[in-house]
Amino acid sequence: MVEVKIIVTEDGSHSLFHEALNETYHSFHGAVQESRYVFLKEGLDFLQASFGLNTIRVLEVGFGTGLNAILTSEWAKAHQVKIEYISLEPFPLKREIYEALNYHEFFEDKTVRERFLELHHADWEKEFIQNEYFTLLKTEAKLQDFSTDLHFDIVFFDAFAPNKQSEMWDLALIEKTVGLLNSNGVFVTYCAKGQLKRDLKTVGLVVETLHGPPGKKEMVRGLKQ
Ligand SMILES: C[S@@+](CC[C@H](N)C(=O)[O-])C[C@H]1O[C@@H](n2cnc3c(N)ncnc32)[C@H](O)[C@@H]1O
Repeated sequence: MVEVKIIVTEDGSHSLFHEALNETYHSFHGAVQESRYVFLKEGLDFLQASFGLNTIRVLEVGFGTGLNAILTSEWAKAHQVKIEYISLEPFPLKREIYEALNYHEFFEDKTVRERFLELHHADWEKEFIQNEYFTLLKTEAKLQDFSTDLHFDIVFFDAFAPNKQSEMWDLALIEKTVGLLNSNGVFVTYCAKGQLKRDLKTVGLVVETLHGPPGKKEMVRGLKQ
């Protein structure tokens, strides 16, 4: 189990501080704000507006707090789109940490906390059907060791930053990840490093530099054509 401390970001939502890495799980400017912007607005909303899929398979690199997963589950229900969400996490959180997170306060629906905890309590390596729109499979694997026959419509690449965990951003691992995308698949991340953009182009994506969430200048999205 990973050693982390809960912190409060500028929008009032929690994030975690990873002591060994000296790194946070989200932007100081707002965890919920950042996740909604990067992964919902520039990820799922874009995919839906561009290709109008009825079912979407998501690969998340780093389940962490479960914030992206609960946002996506609620998005799926609101949009009546079926989502199969596969999330990798080699370092799961302790129960006392995820139970203290305040993400449910950022939803109008006051029953979200139950669904957030369901995602954490779900068994690892076993499909959990949350409702008719959202299915979760958490796997305790590193991206480096993950293998699957599945292909994905979108990858939420939410690893720690390149200066903290450089191995996650190696060209070979980026190539492996992009290889898991369907055609018209989207790679989306909060990171906007020039090397990442060059690497995504090298492995064949059409790369866009987008405005970042509040407090961050840019972010990156790649499309596999
Ligand atoms: C920036 S945090 C984001 C987590 C999550 N998406 C969230 O919103 O809380 C990065 C996550 O990647 C996980 N991670 C670390 N090494 C990994 C690896 N080799 N493969 C997959 N995930 C990894 C970390 O444990 C952490 O949960």
